[in-house]
Amino acid sequence: MTSGTQKNLLQEWFPHTAKPFIANAPMLGFTDVRMANAVTRAGSLGFVGGGFDFRPESIQLADLDANLAKAGSELKEIHEDDKDLPIGVGFITLTPKGFENAVAILQKHRVAAVWLSFPQSDSDHLSLIDNLRKAKEASPCDWNLKIFVQVGTVEAAKVAMEQGADVLVVQGTDAGGHQWAQGASLMSLLPEIRDTRDSDSRFGNVAIVGAGGIVDGRGCLAALGLGAEGVVMGTRFVATAECPAPEEIKQVIVHAKDGATSTVKSVQHDVYQSTDVFPRQYDGRAVIGLSYTDFQGGIADDEIIRRYNEARQKGENHRRTVWAGASVGVIHSVVTVEDLIKSIRAEMKSALTKLMGNI
Ligand SMILES: Cc1cc2nc3c(=O)[nH]c(=O)nc-3n(C[C@H](O)[C@H](O)[C@H](O)COP(=O)(O)O)c2cc1C
Repeated sequence: MTSGTQKNLLQEWFPHTAKPFIANAPMLGFTDVRMANAVTRAGSLGFVGGGFDFRPESIQLADLDANLAKAGSELKEIHEDDKDLPIGVGFITLTPKGFENAVAILQKHRVAAVWLSFPQSDSDHLSLIDNLRKAKEASPCDWNLKIFVQVGTVEAAKVAMEQGADVLVVQGTDAGGHQWAQGASLMSLLPEIRDTRDSDSRFGNVAIVGAGGIVDGRGCLAALGLGAEGVVMGTRFVATAECPAPEEIKQVIVHAKDGATSTVKSVQHDVYQSTDVFPRQYDGRAVIGLSYTDFQGGIADDEIIRRYNEARQKGENHRRTVWAGASVGVIHSVVTVEDLIKSIRAEMKSALTKLMGNI
């Protein structure tokens, strides 16, 4: 088989998508239906953040239900009523109690994909995946839900495949936002996870996508070269016209240079915002801003939190954590989702031509 005709599960599962498979990360608070629909319309897979609160009274789930109804009506031109809704929903699985309430909403709207991230322990995903599979089988119509699990280590990848994940989102430590505190870059993770999958025939129907520091065609091409079959981008999609983030946050990303020094992986980013709920196997990468600089200057956490809250009460965003990956220095402007995806596909081709000249 040549690479041009190679069977690609992702295009088979998501027929509206072009090669290579591109998705936006389901960034809670930084993605909404407008953005997910724009990504899907551009021949990629749009995700919305579904949240982490699965209680029956959860506002996040009520919003998700309403937003998925909206997504369905807005995507009419590419979504046939008898087919799955061509967008996905991401959940943070720290507190999985009540997950069946989320599953019922996914089933009601027949979303094409679900994405699970950040369990307390890798083993926790087993019951969630079982729950999703049972709902899929019990569905009165043909529901082809695919289960994405984000993993940051080879061990977590093995567990996710054993548990029945359809897609591994391999997250390297260049990633923006939460991630494995002890991890590795895509350069190391993708080839080893690809070898692990390829060496076990039970996992032949698992697809691999790469996430972490990919912001342009060169990054996409590199991820594919390392063993991914598709890519996910988070930070790059924050700097788009459709992203619901405040403009100041987009501008911080656009103006940041040298992600090696302008961003840092730390648990502190959550401490300032009082969102320190993640277990210690995770931390997060964000731009070094005022709060982090205060921390480096020896200011106590309580005082940094007080300053943060004071700014937020005034409606100011300058002390907010700007979650962003180490490739921020290559993002120069806010663009539309459509233009971004078009330019990335074109860049991949020109990067490949240049690459061939060097081999
Ligand atoms: C602003 C922001 C918010 C994020 N929120 C989530 C989230 O809610 N759930 C999740 O699974 N991952 C989240 N992530 C991590 C992404 O899933 C993904 O791994 C990461 O964006 C990839 O790296 P990149 O940002 O360099 O593209 C977030 C990332 C960013 C930048």
